[in-house]
Amino acid sequence: MTLLLDVHLTDRDADAALRADALAGLTATPKHLPPKWFYDARGSELFERITEQPEYYPTRTERALLDRSAPEIAAVSGADVLVELGSGSSAKTRLLLDAFTSSAHPGGGLRWYVPQDVSESALRQAMDTLGPEYPGLRLRGVVGDFTRHLDRLPGGRHTPLADGHRRMVAFLGGTIGNLLPAERDRFLTGLRAVLEPGEQLLLGTGLVVDPALLVPAYDDGAGVTAEFNRNVLRVLNRELGADFDVDAFAHVALWDPEQEWIEMRLRAERAMTVHLDGLDLTVEFAAGEELRTEVSAKFRPERLGALLAGAGFALTRMWTDPDGRHALSLATAA
Ligand code: SAH
Ligand code: TRP
Repeated sequence: MTLLLDVHLTDRDADAALRADALAGLTATPKHLPPKWFYDARGSELFERITEQPEYYPTRTERALLDRSAPEIAAVSGADVLVELGSGSSAKTRLLLDAFTSSAHPGGGLRWYVPQDVSESALRQAMDTLGPEYPGLRLRGVVGDFTRHLDRLPGGRHTPLADGHRRMVAFLGGTIGNLLPAERDRFLTGLRAVLEPGEQLLLGTGLVVDPALLVPAYDDGAGVTAEFNRNVLRVLNRELGADFDVDAFAHVALWDPEQEWIEMRLRAERAMTVHLDGLDLTVEFAAGEELRTEVSAKFRPERLGALLAGAGFALTRMWTDPDGRHALSLATAA
C-alpha cells in the first residue's frame, strides 16, 4: 500500500526552524526551547512510554472519556473528514474512527482521516497500523507544524478532498496546553481562519487538579519523563553539532499556581560551557541554572467557552470525566 503523505515541513525547513529556535532560546534570559523539538523518533517513542506510566493519568483519562463520548461526538458532529493535529501514534483516535465509521452513525460518515504531526516517524508508523484496520477509510498524512502550516491543511477550499465536505479538527492529549498563551491565541485564531463556518474543533484539555496528582504525572518514578525532557539536548547534539553533557542536566517539573501550568525545566547540575558548532555559538550555564523546555497549561471548564469564543468558535458541547481531570470540547466555527 502506498501512503499518501504531504510534507509541509521538509528536513531543510525543520533545520532552519531548529537553528532559529535554538539561537533565540539559548541566548535569552532565562534560557528556553520550544517543545516541538522533543519529538524525533526516540522522543516520540519516549512519549508513548510516558503515556503508559502509572503517574501519567492524562492519556488514560482522555481515552476513557473518548470511549464514553465518541458515539455522541460522532452523532453531534456529522463530519466526513477527521483532521488530527499532533496526532502522534493516533492510538486514542481509534475510538473516534470507530464511532465515526460505525453503521449506527447516521449517514455512515467518515471518508477521510488526516493525521498531522511534526514527527514523520510517528506519523508513518500510525498510518501503517491504521491503514489495514480501516480499509474503507482514506488516509492522508501531513508532516507539518501546527504553529505554522494550518493554511495548508487538506480539505479546505483551496485543497479539497474528494467526497470530503465537512471537517472536524481534533486536537487531543492536552497538547494545546503546551503552547504559551500568546501562541495559543494565535493558534486558535489561525485555525478558525482556515475553517469554513460550521466546521468543527474537538479540543482535549487537561483541567486544573490537585498539584499532588499533577506534578508526579510530569515526574514519573521510572524517570521516563526525565529522559524525554533530556532528549531535546540529544537532538541539539545531533542536529546542531552541540556538546551538551546530557546527563549533567536534571529534570525539574513544577506547578505554577499563578499561570496554572506545569513547567518543565532542565537544571545544569554544575557550571558548563556548551559549544554548538552548527550555530557557531558558545553558551554558558551557571551551576543550578535552569532551561525551560515546556509548559503544560491546565484549564478551568467554565473558562473554555470564552477561550474558544475569543477565537470565533461557539462551544457546542463539553464532556468531562467524573473526577474532573480532563475535558473534551466540541466547538463550531461561527
Ligand atoms: N495526540 C497524541 C500525542 C500527544 S504528544 C496523544 O494525545 O497522545 C504531542 C504530539 O504533538 C506529538 O506527537 C508531537 O510530535 C506533536 N507536536 C508537537 N509540536 C508540534 C507542532 N508544532 N506541530 C505538529 N505536531 C507537533
Ligand atoms: N501534551 C502532553 C502534556 O502536556 C505532552 C507531555 C506529557 C510532555 N509529558 C511531558 C511534554 C513531559 C514534555 C515533558 O501532557
